[in-house]
Amino acid sequence: MPDDFIPHERPGTVAALALAGLRRRRKTLPAQLFYDEAGCGLFYRITELPEYYLTRTELALLPRVAADVAATLPGPVALVEYGASDETKAGFLLDMQRAGAPLVAAYVPIDIAAPALAALTARLRRARPGLAVFPVAADFLEPVALPDAIGRLPRLGFFPGSTIGNLDPIAARVFLGGVRAALGEGARLLVGADLRKDPSVLLPAYDDAAGVTAAFNRNLLVRLNREAGAGFDPATFDHRAVWNAEEGRVEMHLVSRRAQTVPVAGEAVHFSEGETIHTENSYKYTLAGLAELAGAGGWHRERVWTDAEELFSVHAKGIALGTLPLVRGCCALPVFGWLLLLRLRCWRLG
Ligand code: AVJ
Repeated sequence: MPDDFIPHERPGTVAALALAGLRRRRKTLPAQLFYDEAGCGLFYRITELPEYYLTRTELALLPRVAADVAATLPGPVALVEYGASDETKAGFLLDMQRAGAPLVAAYVPIDIAAPALAALTARLRRARPGLAVFPVAADFLEPVALPDAIGRLPRLGFFPGSTIGNLDPIAARVFLGGVRAALGEGARLLVGADLRKDPSVLLPAYDDAAGVTAAFNRNLLVRLNREAGAGFDPATFDHRAVWNAEEGRVEMHLVSRRAQTVPVAGEAVHFSEGETIHTENSYKYTLAGLAELAGAGGWHRERVWTDAEELFSVHAKGIALGTLPLVRGCCALPVFGWLLLLRLRCWRLG
């Protein structure tokens, strides 16, 4: 396979995914459907909103993370990014040098959005001609085989952006285990994840004053109208963000303002007044919860970075010591973004 062969999404996939969720008693749509071209544009606008602290905080951490990672790793690596729709975050690692050579010898961006991936690849080949780029257009939740061309380079996995929060804890564990299997012995993994904090900070990040997140949510319906033969009137659905304390997640819903029947791919989907489509979960973990999750996926947490102010609190809480019940009560801690460096556990999982 040539290294820039990028297969396209199979036709019918969007309709099949939509119907599978909309036939349920509690209607859902998978969060991966957000990211068509318009959705990617709206998400980009979200990342610049004053209420959406995640991207800004993570970007502020990355220079320090990249420098520390470069100082820790023994030599050139293959950087494997899960959900790589643009190269901004990877760029911090791509800029690093190790003993006079680039830290990253090969870059494998994996993303389901083939057009965005093709554009990213073209940009990188122009801007960094010395870098070998091997794009893989795939759903990173499915097992992904790495290109043979990266050979025996040690692997550094990269999963920024708190995308891990979109997975429920079981799916997150399965994902981390799959990454472990794909990256192989000696691999490291960097994960960026948002932290649990007061709902008065969390909720506005998912329900901004300018209504960009509402438009992002409703764009799902616009997409289904175009790609799944649906007949939604997006204006008849309200955007709603809620903090589900029991599950530890922010949920987004689309709430039908009235009883209505909507055609979707030849089927009639009925909504009662106030009925919701659950469109996204964003799980928010504690530091201890994330260490546990990493452990369940076969990884051992090596290092944590949080925004400078909170580093002290983090150490004071005794991270990674299994103090989950103790740390549970810390909802009000204004700890924002963070990343962790994971290495493989030394023993085999049963
Ligand atoms: C890209 C999954 C990290 O959950 O915060 C932003 C997506 N949804 N606003 C998140 C999102 C609503 C975002 N992630």
